[in-house]
Amino acid sequence: MPLTKIEKVLSKGLDELKEKGIIKGKETVITGIKQAQESKGPRYFIEGYGNKEFLMMNSNSYLGMGLRKEVIEAEEKAAKEFGAGPGAVRFISGTYESHVELEKRLAKFHNREAGMIFSSAYAAIMGTLPPLISKDTIVISDQLNHNCIINAARLSRPKDKRIYSHNNTNELESNLKECIGVCRRVIIVTDGIFSMRGDYAPLPEIADLAEKYDPEFEEGILTIVDDSHGVGAIGETGRGTTEFTHENRIDILVATMGKALGVNGGYLVSTAKVVDYLRETSPFYIYTNPITVSEARATLKALEILDSDKGKGMLKHLREMTAYFRKGLIDLGYEVVKGEHPIVPLMIRDTKKTVKLVKYLKDNGILSTGIYYPVVPRGDEEIRFQICAEHTKSDIDYALKVLKDYKETRL
Ligand SMILES: Cc1ncc(COP(=O)(O)O)c(C=O)c1O
Repeated sequence: MPLTKIEKVLSKGLDELKEKGIIKGKETVITGIKQAQESKGPRYFIEGYGNKEFLMMNSNSYLGMGLRKEVIEAEEKAAKEFGAGPGAVRFISGTYESHVELEKRLAKFHNREAGMIFSSAYAAIMGTLPPLISKDTIVISDQLNHNCIINAARLSRPKDKRIYSHNNTNELESNLKECIGVCRRVIIVTDGIFSMRGDYAPLPEIADLAEKYDPEFEEGILTIVDDSHGVGAIGETGRGTTEFTHENRIDILVATMGKALGVNGGYLVSTAKVVDYLRETSPFYIYTNPITVSEARATLKALEILDSDKGKGMLKHLREMTAYFRKGLIDLGYEVVKGEHPIVPLMIRDTKKTVKLVKYLKDNGILSTGIYYPVVPRGDEEIRFQICAEHTKSDIDYALKVLKDYKETRL
């Protein structure tokens, strides 16, 4: 059947995205990777640029785990032993020993009773919020939460959804007070690290408020944190925002295996009862394949490395390179958002200037991400750099030199 009619509607939709300035357009296609050599970290080749090498400063792979020989070998070995895919969903015949081992390992890693893996962190959130949201639940959510949280809350149809201004615990408290007598259960949900700025949720204050108001609700208050950008990137031993803020009262912690852990997939850790319940009720767990055995084994290897002396060294280097880059930018007179996370936002505060600098960086072999209105408010346009434990001091020096030249010649 010809698609003429629907394609006309879709074209209109695409035109609208273009007009609003939110069309993502052509993606950068990676065609090859050159492993780290001497003083240089890995370099990337991209479609249309031939043999030109690029320093990637916009990857979520904060520890560079995905390129580590031991992780790749673990993945390869498991693929040879167990094949390329799981073959079925968990409850049919898709549960392998490595999935179970990984769930136990993740629980131990976060010092929780139980863990549960999903095909992605997006799926983990989509698979966690709806089964826990009853008709008598109110969801209270940070304004800047990730899209997966927004969509999961929409899918759940709670009694009400309330949004508090970013990290504003006074507003969170007002919302909690207003919910008393209105619902039986409250869920407070927030990102741990917010991906646009690398800033973090005030978890101790959130947990204090949950504790204070919990007696007011028949079914209590649940706190859920999605720390996809935090785990492996922040905290003394890479446990993420809960470790960084010294807060262990969060009820359900969700994270990804696809960023700092360098592999793919998502997970949650919580009490055994919560996990038992979600295994029986979560559609994103029950009706869809799990990660592959190879991915599970590669993640187990990444966790083993993270908890070894090598991992501690990687985290230390990541912290040092992040601080070095941040200070370098400040010394050059650039405006940088304060923080310790390897997301380093360089504030440009103008769309055209941001586009120009992202292009200049690319022309000079550096991949970075421009973030513009409407993703951020007008005037908050930025370039988001992401530091990785694979970056060497000379890589960071090179990036700073390019940014120095730009300041001297183009600004
Ligand atoms: C807070 C948050 N949750 C979930 C995700 C998605 O992670 P995954 O790729 O594992 O679905 C992201 C990724 O950007 C994120 O920042």
